[in-house]
Amino acid sequence: MSLKQYLPEVVESRQKDLKAISTPERLLLGPGPSNAHPDVLKAIARPPVGHLDPFYVDLMGEVQELLRYAWQTKNRLTLPMSGTGSAAMEATIANSVEPGEKVLVAVKGYFGHRLVDMATRYQADVQIIQKDWGEAFSLEEVEEALLNHRPSILAMVHAETSTGVCQPMEGIGDLCRKYDCLLLLDTVTSLGGVPLFLDEWKVDLAYSCSQKGLSCPPGLGPFSMGPRAEAKLLKRKNKVPNWYLDVSLLNQYWGSDRVYHHTAPVNMNFGIREALRLLAEEGLENSWNRHQMNAEKLWNGLDDLGLKLHVPEHLRLPTLTTVVIPDGVDGKAFSTHLLRKHGVELGGGLGSLAGKVWRIGLMGYNSTAKNVEHILRLFELELPNFS
Ligand SMILES: Cc1ncc(COP(=O)(O)O)c(C=O)c1O
Repeated sequence: MSLKQYLPEVVESRQKDLKAISTPERLLLGPGPSNAHPDVLKAIARPPVGHLDPFYVDLMGEVQELLRYAWQTKNRLTLPMSGTGSAAMEATIANSVEPGEKVLVAVKGYFGHRLVDMATRYQADVQIIQKDWGEAFSLEEVEEALLNHRPSILAMVHAETSTGVCQPMEGIGDLCRKYDCLLLLDTVTSLGGVPLFLDEWKVDLAYSCSQKGLSCPPGLGPFSMGPRAEAKLLKRKNKVPNWYLDVSLLNQYWGSDRVYHHTAPVNMNFGIREALRLLAEEGLENSWNRHQMNAEKLWNGLDDLGLKLHVPEHLRLPTLTTVVIPDGVDGKAFSTHLLRKHGVELGGGLGSLAGKVWRIGLMGYNSTAKNVEHILRLFELELPNFS
């Protein structure tokens, strides 16, 4: 049997002129990924080492410490899952939900629905409270729902990337303690860019991603589990039904035992180590302030251009802004044009906001005054051609 039989015609015909990869220049101002910091890319390009190499083992400890800083937590079980944000999201559910248990999901956008889907797959008795896409839950609404449903877990999204809403968190953790349930929080679009205090807010389980506020490419999903969730994990009746994401197994690798679990994506961890170092060098509060200042500059500039924002200012995320597409404008044609002509990526609306908003991300390395000025100039220059 000759190799030729397995060579599709299209590959054979192109084999002679297949070149080494060359990627286009893009300014990623959509919902993520955001552009990675050049130093992070340099770190990723270092030659790999073994996943049990003493150098790498030390680096793992540094990544954990730096993640604790970024999240403002002392949680022992804080580590990056090998996978994207959704893997870390699934890890929070897989490790905390047992079949038949009541999980209350506060849904105010696309990613709340993903939490519902995941919890259902882990056979939770899922209860839902909902707000319109563009709103957040009040403390009273959360308390009423906890009282009515008496769940063992409340899951919610801090920074809803589909709407641009930041859920106010003060007091929610106290309510969860009062009604004896765990608090599970999605911090995918807030980590590094929006004030976030896992311990102060009494969050028991949290997850995030590498590709937004941390200025790293996609591929890792930071995960954190507090002592109450850990105690629950230890008392489980059944094994965690997902081998890859089982924190009790992963902890044998990330904890002091250093037992092989899976071959870690070492280069991605070089990257996140550098990304987190850069965040610590800038200082968490400075990073939060930078995101807020640049977002305000964007909001004012859009307002000057006569554009409306979807979310009231007190609930707006500094990392993700939803802009209402004016009547008569083909939003998709406009963003396609910006990408083709200017190499700038914007996001479109998801779910009930599809076709109604653009999503502009200013995250991590991309949250700069220069990028804000650039995108405003493009709106000013190009939008009149689409009305
Ligand atoms: C709020 C939120 N949660 C979860 C996810 C899923 O993360 P990932 O796409 O990295 O799997 C995203 C992705 O953008 C998100 O914005």
